Amino acid sequence: MILSPTPENLQRAADALKRGDLIVMPTETVYGLACDALNAEAADKLYEVKGRPKENPIIVHVYGHAMLDRVATKIDEDTLGLVERFWPGPLTLVLKKRPEVPAEITSGLDTVAVRCPSHPVAQELLQVFGGPIGAPSANRFMALSATAAEDVDPLIASRAEMVLQGGPCSFGLESTVLDMSQSPPRLLRPGSITRSDIQATLGMPLGTMPPLGQRRSPGMYARHYAPNTRLLLIPELHSDQPGLTFGEPKNAHQLQMPDSPTAYAMKLYAALHQLDTLGLDTIYVATPPETPEWEAVQDRLSRASAS
Ligand code: TXA
Ligand code: MG
Repeated sequence: MILSPTPENLQRAADALKRGDLIVMPTETVYGLACDALNAEAADKLYEVKGRPKENPIIVHVYGHAMLDRVATKIDEDTLGLVERFWPGPLTLVLKKRPEVPAEITSGLDTVAVRCPSHPVAQELLQVFGGPIGAPSANRFMALSATAAEDVDPLIASRAEMVLQGGPCSFGLESTVLDMSQSPPRLLRPGSITRSDIQATLGMPLGTMPPLGQRRSPGMYARHYAPNTRLLLIPELHSDQPGLTFGEPKNAHQLQMPDSPTAYAMKLYAALHQLDTLGLDTIYVATPPETPEWEAVQDRLSRASAS
């Protein structure tokens, strides 16, 4: 059930979280399946509904420094600099966790991934609820994330008390994940806040990451963010191929994507959801430029095309 974020519905959503139930909330990146981040049973329910393996930890959403201090500890100057510069916004920081955060949220790690969303509905919900909210993307494990309330997986929506309507997500890719618990900090998942944005603020280069498929970090799977239809990256689309192109569409099933990485990111999942409903054999995607600004889009497309 999609509900508009009126004060009454926000209160209903907060009450559901307090009871240990799940709701779907909008964020500026993707819609999230939300639970009380300090309730182990609610986290268990969330894993079950998402069909997600328990070794894959959940991002905790906070609003304000007091809430951050309830979940994380040993917050250093570098971390505070990033918080100052990029919060609220699509940057998730992996920090040493407080004992109050259940192992069910962090997969038993001694760290917790935290972010402060900039979406007004997410912020209002955090304030009405008054505590940290755990929320992975509101899709089944490995599947495409939703960047519109209407694209939330029906099975997930049916198991949540409600889907709060927040309109289309303005960034459209999952947040950048940065591990601040090690030195130097490492980029675990590229996103709209780019490697160079972070390096400029920290004044140091980020640690390198092993290639896709060889990653040991939790939740870093080679195949992820994938439509049901097979996806193939190719240099350019022919006139008989459906998919995503940069040029003029050559048939009714080609969607023209923007030339800028931020506009592309915002449209990507909605475009793939749309093509995924057509029962195609393959979705062809014109490979974006191999430049640093496209790192996050490249990452999602290469995972969506991995077998
Ligand atoms: O944009 C987003 O981050 C969205 C919205 C809803 O906020 N959430 C999201 O959550 O993408 P999810 O669960 O799909 O991605 C969480 C990823 C995990 O797969 C894992 O790779 C990383 O964040 N992560 C979480 N906790 C971690 C930890 N303690 N250490 C290392 N990585 C962690
Ligand atoms: Mg996800």
